[in-house]
Amino acid sequence: MIPETLIAPSILAADFARLGEEVEAVDRAGADWIHLDVMDGHFVPNITFGPDLVRSIRPRTRKCFDTHLMISPVDPYVEAFAKAGADRIIVHAEATTHLDRTLQLVRAQGKAAGVSLNPATPEAAVEYVLDRIDLVLVMTVNPGFGGQKFLDGQVEKIRRLEAMTRGRGIRIEVDGGITPETAPLAVAAGASVLVAGSAIFGRPDYAKAIEALRCRPVA
Ligand code: DX5
Ligand code: ZN
Repeated sequence: MIPETLIAPSILAADFARLGEEVEAVDRAGADWIHLDVMDGHFVPNITFGPDLVRSIRPRTRKCFDTHLMISPVDPYVEAFAKAGADRIIVHAEATTHLDRTLQLVRAQGKAAGVSLNPATPEAAVEYVLDRIDLVLVMTVNPGFGGQKFLDGQVEKIRRLEAMTRGRGIRIEVDGGITPETAPLAVAAGASVLVAGSAIFGRPDYAKAIEALRCRPVA
């Protein structure tokens, strides 16, 4: 059975001066989850925000805070993001030496756990931690910035992950360069959660922009 496609707007592309209202607006517009991009200027060449900001926007929505940590080291910050209101904590396979241990830390906080893979990282990086996760995040751009072009070569990785995770209750999420044109490629390959920053916050009507990304796989 093909799971319903969920849309997770990334607040990276929102107006930071009005972040609370922006979160409320995408919630009203039909966002399934809210995607939070945390960057440290070390693992990725950009800096965004930390747990205090997550805490401050937490009261603005009841939707899942899908928290994408692009930080290294990550273990010392898992508890802080959990306590700040993250619902799912996604860590990069490349950002931690002991991925299995990091995922145990996330689960010990009572949070859903995901693993993200950079474009050059093969799907085998998650093969032995599948029992600890409910989501794999495939980066379809090199992480760090919004508004980049979708890397078509990642579609094959989505396909392989779909085969690897089938029947395990693990969702495949795709992040980077998602537009109404690229979304069907990701969904056809097996993705069931689409992250989008500029394709939502860069549009005047958030509800229309979200609807334009919802799609069924092409036959
Ligand atoms: C990139 C971030 C993405 C980014 C996507 O490092 O993880 O979530 O916000 O932005 P768009 O949708 O504009 O490519
Ligand atoms: Zn992200």
